[in-house]
Amino acid sequence: MSLQSEIDRRRTFGIISHPDAGKTTLTEKLLLFGGAIQEAGAVKSNKIKKGATSDFMEIERQRGISVATSVLAFEYQGIKINILDTPGHKDFAEDTFRTLTAVDSVIVVIDVAKGVEEQTVKLVEVCRMRNIPMIVFINKLDREGKDAFELLDEIEQKLGLTVTPMSFPIGMGYDFKGIYNIWEKNVNLFSGDSLKNIEETINIEDINTTELNDLIGEETAETLREEVELVTEVYPTFNQEEYLNGNLQPVFFGSALNNFGVRELLDCFVEIAPTPRPKESDTRLVEANEKEFSGFVFKIHANMDPKHRDRLAFIKIVSGTFNRNSPYLHVRNNKKMKFSSPNAFFAERKEIVDVSYPGDIVGLHDTGNFKIGDTLTQGEIMQYKGIPSFSPEHFRYINNADPMKSKQLGKGIDQLMDEGVAQLFVLELNGRKVIGTVGALQFEVIQYRLEHEYGAKCSYENLNVFKACWVDIKHSDKTELEEFKRVKSRFLAKDKRGQLVFFADSSFTLQMTQSKYSKVELHFVSEF
Ligand code: G4P
Repeated sequence: MSLQSEIDRRRTFGIISHPDAGKTTLTEKLLLFGGAIQEAGAVKSNKIKKGATSDFMEIERQRGISVATSVLAFEYQGIKINILDTPGHKDFAEDTFRTLTAVDSVIVVIDVAKGVEEQTVKLVEVCRMRNIPMIVFINKLDREGKDAFELLDEIEQKLGLTVTPMSFPIGMGYDFKGIYNIWEKNVNLFSGDSLKNIEETINIEDINTTELNDLIGEETAETLREEVELVTEVYPTFNQEEYLNGNLQPVFFGSALNNFGVRELLDCFVEIAPTPRPKESDTRLVEANEKEFSGFVFKIHANMDPKHRDRLAFIKIVSGTFNRNSPYLHVRNNKKMKFSSPNAFFAERKEIVDVSYPGDIVGLHDTGNFKIGDTLTQGEIMQYKGIPSFSPEHFRYINNADPMKSKQLGKGIDQLMDEGVAQLFVLELNGRKVIGTVGALQFEVIQYRLEHEYGAKCSYENLNVFKACWVDIKHSDKTELEEFKRVKSRFLAKDKRGQLVFFADSSFTLQMTQSKYSKVELHFVSEF
């Protein structure tokens, strides 16, 4: 098969949702349809169970699962589908943001009763900023929930999306009878039988046919007709280009648990979802069908087996073909590297592959060469953009608690930061190390892993920081910047890449600083 046809048959996407909306259940049902797994329950949820925040075995167990579910690949109707796993827990939000740099589209799962929740808002915002095509799946229709129109409205308001319903529920909760598929023009009746693998669909070319009355009752049929008419009047009709540009979001209704509405979603997805998209590097836009291989690291998983210091770097292939044992350039290190055992991922296993194509994810064994965001090419010197760090929410000084082990501590911190567990800052004033994290949970994870994987001990000390802001030295006014640096010297640090960072201790300080030094450019993300 040619490179172009391999590209054409690939869809790489992520499922995002607030915890409990049904991401794991939907993933599993998609795999069932693809024949990649044989029974429900095979996909383990990677969520941190409530109340388990200080249970390290639980965290380690979850970390194991999350390696196994990092990429789930399967084939459906000749299409190779790669699902990238995104942790729902908010303390691991940064992990999810990074994974979103490697997807070509997403499916957003929303609970019909809960509507749009906090994590969904944040994740969709990131997707919107990057114009990632999104399909919305409203889940748990078997339960009593919000009115469909109210929910569509909420999605538009809170998520800033423009929706186009591709299907519409017939009744709700107790009266839920099924779904009218606007896209395929058929009716799918709900049986409530979760063991049924594929539901029956009845084609209804014309919604006004009396056959519909016989199926769902006259009154319900009439209501449905009115609602569908309203849908066509109020919402724009589906337009693939608008969807691909991130300006229009198709919506499906269903119940993942009951296998209901999932086939419709999948059939539409394989038809409309984008093939591997071009990606911007610091020098140019790289197209998937270019002959020369290129890719970037979006995730690193380390030390699952304490006996082997192994790490797995996950590379998204952007262009060309990736061949086993071919020399590739690690651009940041300016070093050629060969990989003898690249892993490809399938639903329940991983195996060594000889060739991979754009859209695919390969796992490369690594002994410490890779950092998140690193680019691999066939020789071209360029760096992929778009893996920013966000300002952490929690900050603490990290101290060495065992002076005999300072080397181990340094190495441990370095490697954990490369993995993206947290961010390290070094204060300009006294060289003290500060760890910044998205969630409080990471401090415990770091302490535990430093001890168990590196034999080092650390302690923390509180530090009052509200936000870390990256200072754009290039675009700031030189005189003002010098003054800013002098006055704020106690609050300045460098991040891992050597970029200057300002620690604001309160939102008030931040505001004051911004207005006083209006010509000093401050950013809340590391890439600007
Ligand atoms: P998540 O990955 O987004 O966090 O959600 P997950 O799939 O784990 O689903 C959260 C809960 O919602 C699960 O129940 C799951 O069975 C349920 N669920 C998912 N889809 C549907 C649906 O269409 N209808 C109904 N009624 N429930 C659904 P749980 O009791 O928390 O977990 P479990 O013990 O069933 O695994």
